[in-house]
Amino acid sequence: MTRKPMIAGNWKMNKTTAEAVTLSQDISYGYDSSLDDVELVLCPPFVDLKSVSTVLGFDKSRIALGAQDVYWQKSGAFTGAISPGMLKEVGCSYCIVGHSERREHFFESNEAVNLKVHALFEEGIIPIVCCGEDLPTREAGEALPFVISQIKAALEGLSVKQAGDLVIAYEPIWAIGTGRTATPEAADEVCAAIRQTVGELFGGSAASSLRVLYGGSMKPENVSFFVPMPNIDGGLIGGAALDARSFIDLAKAFI
Ligand code: 13P
Repeated sequence: MTRKPMIAGNWKMNKTTAEAVTLSQDISYGYDSSLDDVELVLCPPFVDLKSVSTVLGFDKSRIALGAQDVYWQKSGAFTGAISPGMLKEVGCSYCIVGHSERREHFFESNEAVNLKVHALFEEGIIPIVCCGEDLPTREAGEALPFVISQIKAALEGLSVKQAGDLVIAYEPIWAIGTGRTATPEAADEVCAAIRQTVGELFGGSAASSLRVLYGGSMKPENVSFFVPMPNIDGGLIGGAALDARSFIDLAKAFI
C-alpha cells in the first residue's frame, strides 16, 4: 500500500500569536498543488491554535492543524490542561504525544502517553506518538528494545483500525536540535522495527498503513538522504519548521 508522506512542524514554545499568523500565512501562500501528495501539519503552541486555524481556513485548507500535547480527561478540575474535545473544536486533526521534551521536563510516562492516545482517538484526533532513545541507550546498543517498549506501551489496547491510522515519530533524543542526525540507514532500521512491532501486535494491514516519521535535525540540506528510505514516511520537524521556505522545501522533497 502507498502511504501519503507527512511533514509535520512542531513549533515547540516558539511564536507569539502575531508571529504564528505570519508563519502560517507564509506557509499557506507557499503551498501549491504539487504538494497535494504530501500531508502538511502545523503544530503551534496552544494559544496560537485558534489564529492558525483561522488562517488555514479550517477544513477548507489542505494544511492540517495539530496540537503539541493534550490531557486525557474530557473536562473538570485540571488546572492548565486542555482536553481532546477542545482541540477538536479549534480544528485540530492531529496531536503530538509523548515528545521526549515532555517526557523529560514534564515527567510524562508511557502510561500517560497511552491514556492520551486513547482519549484523542475517542475524539477523532490522530495521535502523532513520539519515541526515541537517548545517547547512552544508543551507545549501549539498546536503542531498538527501548523504542519498541515505548511503542508497545503507547499502543496498548488500540483497535486494528486505530493502529493503522496512527502516526509514529522516531526522534532519537541526541539528534533533536543538535544538528546531528541519525544516519538514514540507522533511522530506517528503527522505523522498520516500529512497523514490524505494529505488525506483530495488530497485523499486516495496520503495519502497512501506519505512517512512521523521522525527527531530529531534519533540514532541507539533509532531507534527500531520508526520502529513499523505505520505512520513513516523512518528518517531524522542529527548528526548520519555523521558517516557511524551509518547511515547504522539506515537504517538496517527499513529493
Ligand atoms: P529539530 O528538528 O529542531 O531537531 O527538532 C525535532 C523535534 O523535536 C520535532 O518534534
